[in-house]
Amino acid sequence: MKEFYKFDKNEKEDLCSKLTPIAKISPYTNYEEFAAKIKETVESGLVPDFFVDLCKKIHEDRINGKHIHVLKNCPVDEVIPDLDLDNPVQDKYNLKKTYLGEAFLGTFACLLNSPLFSYASRNNGDFFTDVICINRFRGKRTGFTDGDLIYHNDRTSHPVQADYITLLGLRCPEDDLVYTDYIDGKDIIGYLTEEEIEILSQKWFYTAVDDLTREKVKDWDKSREHAVINGEKVWFQDTLTKPIEGAPEKAYRALLALRDAMTKAPKHRHRLEVGDLLVFPNQYGLHNRERIEINNPEESAKRWLLKTYTFENPEVADEFSDYWYEGKYGCVTDGR
Ligand SMILES: [Fe+2]
Repeated sequence: MKEFYKFDKNEKEDLCSKLTPIAKISPYTNYEEFAAKIKETVESGLVPDFFVDLCKKIHEDRINGKHIHVLKNCPVDEVIPDLDLDNPVQDKYNLKKTYLGEAFLGTFACLLNSPLFSYASRNNGDFFTDVICINRFRGKRTGFTDGDLIYHNDRTSHPVQADYITLLGLRCPEDDLVYTDYIDGKDIIGYLTEEEIEILSQKWFYTAVDDLTREKVKDWDKSREHAVINGEKVWFQDTLTKPIEGAPEKAYRALLALRDAMTKAPKHRHRLEVGDLLVFPNQYGLHNRERIEINNPEESAKRWLLKTYTFENPEVADEFSDYWYEGKYGCVTDGR
Protein backbone atom coordinates (compact mmCIF):
# COMPACT_ATOMS: atom_id res chain seq x y z
CA MET A 1 0.00 0.00 0.00
CA LYS A 2 1.15 3.49 -0.70
CA GLU A 3 2.02 5.37 2.44
CA PHE A 4 -0.17 8.19 3.74
CA TYR A 5 2.97 9.91 5.02
CA LYS A 6 6.68 9.29 5.30
CA PHE A 7 8.64 11.12 7.99
CA ASP A 8 11.81 12.64 6.58
CA LYS A 9 15.15 12.35 8.38
CA ASN A 10 14.78 15.62 10.32
CA GLU A 11 11.20 14.90 11.34
CA LYS A 12 12.15 11.46 12.58
CA GLU A 13 15.05 12.85 14.62
CA ASP A 14 12.80 15.53 16.08
CA LEU A 15 10.16 12.96 17.02
CA CYS A 16 12.74 10.61 18.53
CA SER A 17 14.22 13.33 20.71
CA LYS A 18 10.78 14.42 22.00
CA LEU A 19 9.77 10.80 22.72
CA THR A 20 13.05 9.75 24.37
CA PRO A 21 12.01 10.78 27.93
CA ILE A 22 8.91 8.56 27.55
CA ALA A 23 10.98 5.74 26.05
CA LYS A 24 13.04 5.45 29.24
CA ILE A 25 9.98 4.27 31.21
CA SER A 26 8.90 0.66 30.79
CA PRO A 27 5.23 0.31 29.87
CA TYR A 28 5.53 -3.32 30.97
CA THR A 29 6.51 -2.68 34.59
CA ASN A 30 5.40 0.92 35.03
CA TYR A 31 2.45 1.55 32.77
CA GLU A 32 0.83 4.33 34.78
CA GLU A 33 4.00 6.43 34.79
CA PHE A 34 4.52 5.71 31.07
CA ALA A 35 0.94 6.77 30.19
CA ALA A 36 1.16 9.88 32.38
CA LYS A 37 4.39 10.92 30.64
CA ILE A 38 2.71 10.61 27.23
CA LYS A 39 -0.22 12.72 28.40
CA GLU A 40 2.14 15.34 29.83
CA THR A 41 4.22 15.40 26.61
CA VAL A 42 1.11 15.91 24.47
CA GLU A 43 -0.56 18.44 26.74
CA SER A 44 2.56 20.56 27.17
CA GLY A 45 2.83 20.95 23.38
CA LEU A 46 6.14 19.09 23.09
CA VAL A 47 4.94 16.85 20.26
CA PRO A 48 6.05 18.41 16.94
CA ASP A 49 3.27 20.17 14.99
CA PHE A 50 3.77 18.02 11.89
CA PHE A 51 2.81 14.91 13.87
CA VAL A 52 -0.13 16.59 15.61
CA ASP A 53 -1.43 17.80 12.19
CA LEU A 54 -0.90 14.37 10.64
CA CYS A 55 -3.05 12.74 13.34
CA LYS A 56 -5.76 15.38 12.78
CA LYS A 57 -5.81 14.45 9.08
CA ILE A 58 -6.10 10.75 9.91
CA HIS A 59 -8.96 11.54 12.28
CA GLU A 60 -10.76 13.54 9.55
CA ASP A 61 -10.19 10.71 7.07
CA ARG A 62 -11.85 8.27 9.46
CA ILE A 63 -14.89 10.53 9.79
CA ASN A 64 -15.06 10.60 5.98
CA GLY A 65 -14.93 6.80 5.72
CA LYS A 66 -11.22 6.19 5.00
CA HIS A 67 -10.10 3.91 7.78
CA ILE A 68 -6.69 2.51 6.80
CA HIS A 69 -3.38 4.37 6.88
CA VAL A 70 0.32 3.64 6.49
CA LEU A 71 3.10 5.84 7.93
CA LYS A 72 6.72 5.18 7.06
CA ASN A 73 10.08 5.86 8.69
CA CYS A 74 8.50 5.98 12.16
CA PRO A 75 10.60 5.90 15.35
CA VAL A 76 11.61 2.44 16.52
CA ASP A 77 14.24 1.43 19.07
CA GLU A 78 17.82 1.28 17.89
CA VAL A 79 18.36 -2.08 19.53
CA ILE A 80 15.77 -4.73 18.68
CA PRO A 81 16.68 -7.88 20.61
CA ASP A 82 16.58 -11.30 19.02
CA LEU A 83 13.85 -13.00 21.06
CA ASP A 84 13.70 -16.62 22.15
CA LEU A 85 10.59 -17.85 20.34
CA ASP A 86 9.84 -20.42 23.04
CA ASN A 87 8.74 -17.55 25.27
CA PRO A 88 9.16 -14.24 23.43
CA VAL A 89 7.07 -12.20 25.87
CA GLN A 90 9.27 -13.06 28.85
CA ASP A 91 12.36 -12.58 26.70
CA LYS A 92 11.13 -9.13 25.65
CA TYR A 93 10.77 -8.19 29.34
CA ASN A 94 14.33 -9.36 29.94
CA LEU A 95 16.04 -7.92 26.88
CA LYS A 96 14.21 -4.82 25.66
CA LYS A 97 15.70 -1.85 27.48
CA THR A 98 14.20 1.12 25.60
CA TYR A 99 10.59 1.73 24.59
CA LEU A 100 10.67 4.17 21.70
CA GLY A 101 8.29 2.14 19.54
CA GLU A 102 5.88 1.90 22.45
CA ALA A 103 6.22 5.65 23.11
CA PHE A 104 5.43 6.38 19.46
CA LEU A 105 2.37 4.09 19.40
CA GLY A 106 1.12 5.47 22.72
CA THR A 107 1.50 9.06 21.54
CA PHE A 108 -0.21 8.24 18.24
CA ALA A 109 -3.21 6.81 20.14
CA CYS A 110 -3.28 9.80 22.48
CA LEU A 111 -3.29 12.31 19.60
CA LEU A 112 -6.15 10.41 17.96
CA ASN A 113 -8.05 10.47 21.28
CA SER A 114 -8.45 6.69 20.96
CA PRO A 115 -7.78 4.95 24.32
CA LEU A 116 -5.50 1.93 24.29
CA PHE A 117 -6.89 -1.28 25.66
CA SER A 118 -5.63 -4.77 26.44
CA TYR A 119 -6.93 -8.20 27.40
CA ALA A 120 -6.01 -9.24 30.94
CA SER A 121 -5.30 -12.81 29.79
CA ARG A 122 -2.95 -11.80 26.94
CA ASN A 123 0.66 -10.77 27.53
CA ASN A 124 -0.17 -10.26 31.22
CA GLY A 125 -2.55 -7.45 30.31
CA ASP A 126 0.15 -5.39 28.52
CA PHE A 127 -1.11 -2.54 26.35
CA PHE A 128 1.73 -3.19 23.89
CA THR A 129 1.73 -6.73 22.55
CA ASP A 130 3.64 -8.54 19.86
CA VAL A 131 2.80 -10.09 16.55
CA ILE A 132 5.48 -12.72 16.67
CA CYS A 133 5.73 -16.47 16.22
CA ILE A 134 5.66 -18.60 19.38
CA ASN A 135 7.16 -22.01 18.77
CA ARG A 136 4.36 -23.98 20.38
CA PHE A 137 1.80 -22.28 18.09
CA ARG A 138 3.60 -23.00 14.82
CA GLY A 139 0.98 -24.20 12.35
CA LYS A 140 -1.90 -23.43 14.74
CA ARG A 141 -4.95 -21.16 14.46
CA THR A 142 -3.79 -18.04 16.29
CA GLY A 143 -1.96 -14.83 15.49
CA PHE A 144 1.15 -16.42 17.05
CA THR A 145 1.54 -18.96 14.29
CA ASP A 146 4.47 -18.71 11.88
CA GLY A 147 2.06 -19.27 9.00
CA ASP A 148 -0.73 -17.58 7.11
CA LEU A 149 -3.76 -16.19 8.88
CA ILE A 150 -7.31 -16.46 7.57
CA TYR A 151 -9.40 -13.32 7.06
CA HIS A 152 -10.71 -12.35 10.47
CA ASN A 153 -11.33 -9.71 13.07
CA ASP A 154 -9.27 -10.00 16.22
CA ARG A 155 -11.23 -11.59 19.06
CA THR A 156 -14.52 -12.03 17.16
CA SER A 157 -15.64 -14.41 19.90
CA HIS A 158 -15.01 -11.84 22.68
CA PRO A 159 -17.69 -9.31 23.70
CA VAL A 160 -15.12 -6.49 23.73
CA GLN A 161 -13.33 -5.91 20.45
CA ALA A 162 -10.86 -3.34 19.21
CA ASP A 163 -12.06 -0.57 16.92
CA TYR A 164 -8.55 -0.10 15.51
CA ILE A 165 -5.43 -2.25 15.35
CA THR A 166 -2.08 -0.54 14.94
CA LEU A 167 1.04 -2.45 13.90
CA LEU A 168 4.60 -1.14 13.97
CA GLY A 169 7.37 -3.03 12.17
CA LEU A 170 10.32 -3.77 14.49
CA ARG A 171 11.90 -6.75 12.74
CA CYS A 172 10.73 -7.56 9.23
CA PRO A 173 12.25 -10.00 6.75
CA GLU A 174 13.89 -8.14 3.89
CA ASP A 175 13.95 -10.92 1.32
CA ASP A 176 10.69 -12.69 2.10
CA LEU A 177 7.28 -11.37 1.16
CA VAL A 178 4.84 -11.34 4.09
CA TYR A 179 1.72 -9.22 3.59
CA THR A 180 -1.07 -7.93 5.81
CA ASP A 181 -4.24 -7.75 3.70
CA TYR A 182 -7.40 -5.83 4.46
CA ILE A 183 -10.89 -5.93 2.94
CA ASP A 184 -13.20 -3.08 3.80
CA GLY A 185 -16.63 -4.08 5.12
CA LYS A 186 -18.36 -1.56 2.85
CA ASP A 187 -16.87 -3.30 -0.18
CA ILE A 188 -18.02 -6.72 1.05
CA ILE A 189 -21.53 -5.47 1.83
CA GLY A 190 -21.70 -3.85 -1.62
CA TYR A 191 -21.73 -7.32 -3.18
CA LEU A 192 -24.64 -8.60 -1.05
CA THR A 193 -28.39 -8.35 -1.66
CA GLU A 194 -30.67 -6.64 0.83
CA GLU A 195 -32.09 -9.99 1.85
CA GLU A 196 -28.62 -11.46 2.45
CA ILE A 197 -27.66 -8.43 4.53
CA GLU A 198 -30.83 -8.78 6.59
CA ILE A 199 -30.15 -12.45 7.33
CA LEU A 200 -26.48 -11.82 8.11
CA SER A 201 -27.60 -9.08 10.52
CA GLN A 202 -29.43 -11.63 12.67
CA LYS A 203 -27.83 -13.79 15.39
CA TRP A 204 -27.75 -17.03 13.40
CA PHE A 205 -23.96 -17.49 13.70
CA TYR A 206 -21.19 -18.46 16.09
CA THR A 207 -17.40 -18.32 15.90
CA ALA A 208 -15.10 -21.01 17.23
CA VAL A 209 -12.33 -19.55 19.43
CA ASP A 210 -8.69 -19.58 18.36
CA ASP A 211 -6.14 -22.00 19.76
CA LEU A 212 -4.55 -19.48 22.15
CA THR A 213 -7.90 -18.58 23.73
CA ARG A 214 -8.71 -22.29 24.01
CA GLU A 215 -5.40 -22.82 25.81
CA LYS A 216 -6.05 -19.94 28.24
CA VAL A 217 -9.70 -20.68 28.99
CA LYS A 218 -10.28 -24.42 28.90
CA ASP A 219 -14.07 -24.53 28.71
CA TRP A 220 -14.44 -21.80 26.07
CA ASP A 221 -14.74 -23.26 22.58
CA LYS A 222 -17.10 -20.89 20.82
CA SER A 223 -18.71 -17.48 21.00
CA ARG A 224 -22.29 -16.67 21.86
CA GLU A 225 -24.63 -16.43 18.86
CA HIS A 226 -23.82 -13.31 16.92
CA ALA A 227 -24.72 -11.45 13.74
CA VAL A 228 -22.11 -11.29 10.97
CA ILE A 229 -23.12 -7.80 9.82
CA ASN A 230 -23.99 -4.92 12.11
CA GLY A 231 -24.49 -1.73 10.09
CA GLU A 232 -21.10 -1.22 8.43
CA LYS A 233 -19.34 -3.67 10.77
CA VAL A 234 -18.48 -7.23 9.80
CA TRP A 235 -17.84 -9.90 12.44
CA PHE A 236 -16.41 -12.96 10.78
CA GLN A 237 -13.49 -15.38 10.91
CA ASP A 238 -13.00 -17.40 7.78
CA THR A 239 -13.44 -21.16 8.45
CA LEU A 240 -14.40 -20.48 12.11
CA THR A 241 -17.69 -18.55 11.79
CA LYS A 242 -20.62 -20.87 10.99
CA PRO A 243 -24.41 -20.98 11.29
CA ILE A 244 -25.61 -22.16 14.69
CA GLU A 245 -27.42 -25.46 15.18
CA GLY A 246 -30.98 -25.05 13.93
CA ALA A 247 -30.25 -22.00 11.75
CA PRO A 248 -32.47 -21.77 8.66
CA GLU A 249 -31.09 -22.70 5.26
CA LYS A 250 -31.12 -19.03 4.25
CA ALA A 251 -28.41 -18.40 6.90
CA TYR A 252 -26.15 -20.96 5.17
CA ARG A 253 -26.87 -19.39 1.78
CA ALA A 254 -26.16 -15.90 3.10
CA LEU A 255 -22.84 -17.02 4.58
CA LEU A 256 -21.85 -18.48 1.21
CA ALA A 257 -22.80 -15.17 -0.42
CA LEU A 258 -20.60 -13.36 2.11
CA ARG A 259 -17.62 -15.52 1.17
CA ASP A 260 -18.26 -14.83 -2.51
CA ALA A 261 -18.43 -11.11 -1.72
CA MET A 262 -15.06 -11.30 0.09
CA THR A 263 -13.49 -12.89 -2.97
CA LYS A 264 -14.91 -10.21 -5.27
CA ALA A 265 -14.08 -7.23 -3.02
CA PRO A 266 -10.86 -5.25 -3.57
CA LYS A 267 -7.95 -6.02 -1.22
CA HIS A 268 -5.56 -3.55 0.34
CA ARG A 269 -2.20 -5.25 0.79
CA HIS A 270 0.77 -3.97 2.74
CA ARG A 271 4.15 -5.51 3.36
CA LEU A 272 5.32 -4.05 6.65
CA GLU A 273 8.93 -2.93 6.72
CA VAL A 274 10.94 -1.80 9.74
CA GLY A 275 9.55 1.58 10.87
CA ASP A 276 6.22 1.14 9.09
CA LEU A 277 3.05 1.87 11.02
CA LEU A 278 -0.10 0.26 9.63
CA VAL A 279 -3.41 1.17 11.28
CA PHE A 280 -6.70 -0.35 10.19
CA PRO A 281 -10.16 -0.99 11.65
CA ASN A 282 -10.86 -4.29 13.33
CA GLN A 283 -14.64 -4.25 12.84
CA TYR A 284 -15.20 -2.13 9.71
CA GLY A 285 -13.29 -4.76 7.74
CA LEU A 286 -11.39 -8.05 7.80
CA HIS A 287 -7.65 -8.63 7.75
CA ASN A 288 -5.34 -11.58 7.22
CA ARG A 289 -1.67 -12.48 6.84
CA GLU A 290 -0.35 -13.95 3.65
CA ARG A 291 3.12 -15.31 3.17
CA ILE A 292 3.60 -14.88 -0.55
CA GLU A 293 7.20 -16.03 -0.89
CA ILE A 294 9.31 -17.41 1.93
CA ASN A 295 12.86 -18.39 1.11
CA ASN A 296 14.24 -18.14 4.65
CA PRO A 297 11.60 -19.61 6.97
CA GLU A 298 13.73 -19.27 10.11
CA GLU A 299 14.43 -15.58 9.44
CA SER A 300 10.78 -14.97 8.57
CA ALA A 301 9.68 -16.63 11.81
CA LYS A 302 11.53 -13.86 13.68
CA ARG A 303 9.23 -11.20 12.18
CA TRP A 304 8.18 -8.95 15.05
CA LEU A 305 5.52 -6.27 14.99
CA LEU A 306 4.48 -4.23 17.98
CA LYS A 307 0.70 -4.06 18.26
CA THR A 308 -1.88 -1.96 20.04
CA TYR A 309 -5.65 -2.15 20.28
CA THR A 310 -7.64 1.05 20.60
CA PHE A 311 -11.23 2.10 21.12
CA GLU A 312 -12.63 4.66 18.70
CA ASN A 313 -12.88 7.29 21.48
CA PRO A 314 -13.24 7.56 25.28
CA GLU A 315 -17.05 7.33 25.07
CA VAL A 316 -16.80 3.89 23.43
CA ALA A 317 -14.27 2.82 26.08
CA ASP A 318 -16.69 3.85 28.82
CA GLU A 319 -19.36 1.53 27.37
CA PHE A 320 -17.14 -1.41 28.37
CA SER A 321 -16.14 -0.25 31.84
CA ASP A 322 -17.90 -3.26 33.42
CA TYR A 323 -15.17 -5.41 31.86
CA TRP A 324 -12.19 -3.60 33.43
CA TYR A 325 -10.06 -6.21 35.17
CA GLU A 326 -9.66 -5.28 38.84
CA GLY A 327 -10.78 -1.74 37.96
CA LYS A 328 -7.80 -1.07 35.68
CA TYR A 329 -8.99 1.27 32.91
CA GLY A 330 -8.74 -0.35 29.48
CA CYS A 331 -7.67 -3.80 30.71
CA VAL A 332 -10.44 -6.17 29.67
CA THR A 333 -11.31 -9.36 31.49
CA ASP A 334 -12.28 -12.57 29.68
CA GLY A 335 -16.01 -12.23 30.35
CA ARG A 336 -18.39 -14.04 28.06
FE1 LIG B 1 -5.49 -10.21 13.52
